[in-house]
Amino acid sequence: MVDVPPLSISHAGFHVFDMSRMVDFFATVYGFHIVDHGTYEETEEITFLSTDPSDHHQLVLYSGRTKSDDDVHYNHISFRADSMARLRTFHAALKDYPGVTRINTIVHGNAWSVYCFDPEGNRTEVFIDTPWHVAQPFGVPFDLSLSDEEIYNWTAELLKDNETVVPFDEWRASRAKEWGLQ
Ligand SMILES: [Fe+2]
Repeated sequence: MVDVPPLSISHAGFHVFDMSRMVDFFATVYGFHIVDHGTYEETEEITFLSTDPSDHHQLVLYSGRTKSDDDVHYNHISFRADSMARLRTFHAALKDYPGVTRINTIVHGNAWSVYCFDPEGNRTEVFIDTPWHVAQPFGVPFDLSLSDEEIYNWTAELLKDNETVVPFDEWRASRAKEWGLQ
């Protein structure tokens, strides 16, 4: 094993058709701040966005997207949120935002997620952890309008016969040991 510290993903960069629309989408729906904006290759625009001062940028949007939004672009980018209440806030903001499509809520066993396709057809996810590790892929729709407790109980019931379920903290500790990170 190489002797390097664990990496965390810092940012993603992708091209957009309409810079002002996409910056507005990420700022309005997810609360991103515009950190820097400038030009590249003389005529193209670039915008750096972040929600966390520990990363100068978490998203970099480049103008100059060329392929149609029907073409396979990338599958999704995903944001970690801090509570089910926050997921509901994002869900409502997505429903209000013009051009957002295919909003759905999926439990992956290890995460409760809200997906959408942004106004340019890119798939975006925001999620919170569940307390469980579950082997992937796993995905079942869930009802975000239920209470936190109802969602927890419904998910626990859904997973009760899944033999891959272990407490997420246990799974994390095992991986840290296996990967030499302790
Ligand atoms: Fe994901």
